[in-house]
Amino acid sequence: MNDIFTKYAITDVIHLAAESHVDRSIVSPLDFVYTNVIGTVNLLNTAKEYWKDDLSYEKAHDGSWDTQRDHLFYHVSTDEVYGSLGKEGLFTETTPYYPNSPYSASKAASDHFVRAFGETYHLPIVVSNCSNNYGPNQFPEKLIPLFIHNIINKKALPVYGDGHYSRDWLYVIDHARAIDLIFHEGRKGDTYNIGGFNEWTNIDLVKLLCAQMDEKLGRSNGESEQLITYVKDRPGHDRRYAIDATKLEKELGWSPSVTFEQGLAATINWYLQNTAWLENVTSEFYQQYYNEIYNN
Ligand code: DAU
Repeated sequence: MNDIFTKYAITDVIHLAAESHVDRSIVSPLDFVYTNVIGTVNLLNTAKEYWKDDLSYEKAHDGSWDTQRDHLFYHVSTDEVYGSLGKEGLFTETTPYYPNSPYSASKAASDHFVRAFGETYHLPIVVSNCSNNYGPNQFPEKLIPLFIHNIINKKALPVYGDGHYSRDWLYVIDHARAIDLIFHEGRKGDTYNIGGFNEWTNIDLVKLLCAQMDEKLGRSNGESEQLITYVKDRPGHDRRYAIDATKLEKELGWSPSVTFEQGLAATINWYLQNTAWLENVTSEFYQQYYNEIYNN
């Protein structure tokens, strides 16, 4: 990291790198500590050292941040740090952290380190917490690409528990647009929630996906739904996530650019046009850890 900062004279960091899959974290929690926590602290330390002549280590008397932005360390995080919602309500930027999986605990820890580097060393930081992403190029371990892969191959669609868990889905391009906006116009030291205002229970989403896939594949209506198989629940499974992205909308003027129907259709098309990629990245390892949790 030191070499990279020196070689490219790095002025700003947008840190998205992470172990991101909850099921993997259930099997190998330490990998998530190494990558998400230690990896993030490594990067923070490198930025702090490399930019140190530009940072003022003394906080302003009124506790405010210097508004002039010489550098920025932007940490991209997740809504899972807030834990699980009941039937009502939305996560806001002030919802207390309550992570339930080794994955979300590691992301919460990294968020805390980012904030701590802001306070202690006056490293200019910003954090965003986003809901479930979907779109092209997503690794087929996540719900949507995994199920697209299984529908194409007429394999079982393993729905965890009763299927009435809900998530808020955001097209990856809209997440990227939000990151770009926050990077350029976000307030230093602040946090922004990013979400699609697009909540679905898993089972409703899977049924929609099956219907769209049947149409695209020229299969009879209802054929892919027969692949739905209820399996054991994910341990520590969060019942519901939903983001209130009002702050981002009001302060920076962001809103999602595509509807779920458009985004899902574009996603399915991409996977159908890239079946070689899809088969190539589907790893043995995935099957192994999947069996360990859900088939015992
Ligand atoms: O909320 C943001 C988070 O969304 C990100 O921080 C994570 O990196 C990302 O992996 C995602 O976490 P989820 O656990 O919500 O995503 P996943 O695609 O694994 O699962 C979505 C829902 O579908 C969840 O309730 C579990 C369920 N599920 C998932 C898989 C892979 C199934 O019922 N069957 C499956 O085979």
